[in-house]
Amino acid sequence: LRLFAGSANVPLAQEVARYLGMDVGPMIRKQFADGEIYIQIQESIRGCDVYLIQPCCNPVNAHLMELLIMIDACRRASARQITAVIPYYGYARADRKTAGRESIAAKLVANLITQAGANRVLAMDLHSAQIQGYFDIPFDHVYGSPVIIDYLLSKELPDLVVVSPDVGGVARARAFAKKLNDAPLAIIDKRRQSHNVAEVMNLIGDVKDKTAVLVDDMIDTAGTITEGSKLLREKGARQIYACATHAVFSGPAVDRLSSGCIEEVIVTNTIPVSENKHFEQLTVLTVANVLGEAI
Ligand code: R5P
Repeated sequence: LRLFAGSANVPLAQEVARYLGMDVGPMIRKQFADGEIYIQIQESIRGCDVYLIQPCCNPVNAHLMELLIMIDACRRASARQITAVIPYYGYARADRKTAGRESIAAKLVANLITQAGANRVLAMDLHSAQIQGYFDIPFDHVYGSPVIIDYLLSKELPDLVVVSPDVGGVARARAFAKKLNDAPLAIIDKRRQSHNVAEVMNLIGDVKDKTAVLVDDMIDTAGTITEGSKLLREKGARQIYACATHAVFSGPAVDRLSSGCIEEVIVTNTIPVSENKHFEQLTVLTVANVLGEAI
């Protein structure tokens, strides 16, 4: 078994390697003046089971292309099996057509990964689980939620209510609620006027005098979570926590999260959170053990 790290999240790959009691394999990654990526695996991987760890996070296109080139390099080096370990699957939200003449980019990404030569994919908390079906190769879908749930349980928060910030996240929130000692569930009816702009409409359920835990798969611009938290505060929640596996943290996310009414924002390290994106209320939990076990 050999493990290699793309440039998107080297610390996570190193942690996974430590968990497995091995080293991250040697690989040269260079970028040419025009932006083209060069990859060379620096040891023989002939006949090996190779794991390539690369979340396709911002810059999504560059990280995806790097992953494809890594897969191609391993295939051409006669690896026996190539597993693309994609802790964060970019383009996952483009999983269907919502209007005419749109692309389904999540499926295109699946085609590219397969075509490049991956034999298996390991991904965490996909935006929609059906993306697994876009692949005709084995796909392991693992969850970061146990790590977040254990952390929340250790805090012994009183009067919990788990809140889905939109209707699409109800199944995820319900699963969370079940593991949080069967906490009640509330749902926010979120409507989007345009991409990356969330507008909160209504709350289904009761959060008055409770500790509300908002659960989402990702925080991108943080519009969903901050608008959701404002609504929960208006409806009488005593304390508000926000949890998400993927800390995409684009644009105004950090300003919004650090200046809002959220007690604590709990994310995982599927995407690295750079120093300048850390803020007081942020907790980053590691999922290296979950990925290590799956590998
Ligand atoms: C949407 O369906 C997702 O589950 C997230 O709620 C959304 O992508 C978060 O985006 P933002 O943080 O920009 O509101």
